[in-house]
Amino acid sequence: MKEAGGKLKNIAVFASGRGSNFFAILQEVKKGKIKGRICCVVSDRHNPPVFELAKREGIPTHWVCRKQFKTGDDYVGALIELLESYKIDLVVLAGYLKLIPAPVVSRYRNSIINIHPALLPNFGGKGYYGMKVHKAVIESGVKLTGVTVHFVDERYDNGPIILQKPIEVLPDDTPETLAERVLKVEHEVYPEVVKAFCEDKLLVEGRKVIWKE
Ligand code: GRF
Repeated sequence: MKEAGGKLKNIAVFASGRGSNFFAILQEVKKGKIKGRICCVVSDRHNPPVFELAKREGIPTHWVCRKQFKTGDDYVGALIELLESYKIDLVVLAGYLKLIPAPVVSRYRNSIINIHPALLPNFGGKGYYGMKVHKAVIESGVKLTGVTVHFVDERYDNGPIILQKPIEVLPDDTPETLAERVLKVEHEVYPEVVKAFCEDKLLVEGRKVIWKE
């Protein structure tokens, strides 16, 4: 696919589960709204539902997990080799449950993004994933939760924040009803951030991310 106004960015999506964010981004790529192409989907799990979605679109899938390798260095080497083989410009974590190894973060500094279903730095870090996040939000009594998209560093849910959207916690919310509303917003904002990245509009200065015009 050719696009006027610059080279397309090569995108790898890392996902462990159902892949609704992958699907939302893919729709915008297919419409030509994002100046990028999804080159592959990578998972730490053998055959997650997201692989089915990818295969249906003819997108290559790769199962890469630490257990397949003798040493951590071999694992890191395989991940970097895979990303280099596709000349990847952007790694999109979309429900990926493993920590990205530090040497991979360092090689792709400010080129790996993640989405988190709460307003970081609250309700983030190791153990805060899936429904656990929404359960903790409701139990804490906060009135606002939301969505955070951030660059990935060496720690879970810790890198420079690119975008946040607040969402009200309603008095009768359950983790499930809240998750549903949050996910809807995720599907709107994640493609927006991928689009901005692919147009070189995100500038990182220390912990701050500036959106260029
Ligand atoms: C999303 O809620 C995302 O915020 C979190 O994991 C979930 C992934 O959902 N990081 P899906 O696999 O994209 O449907």
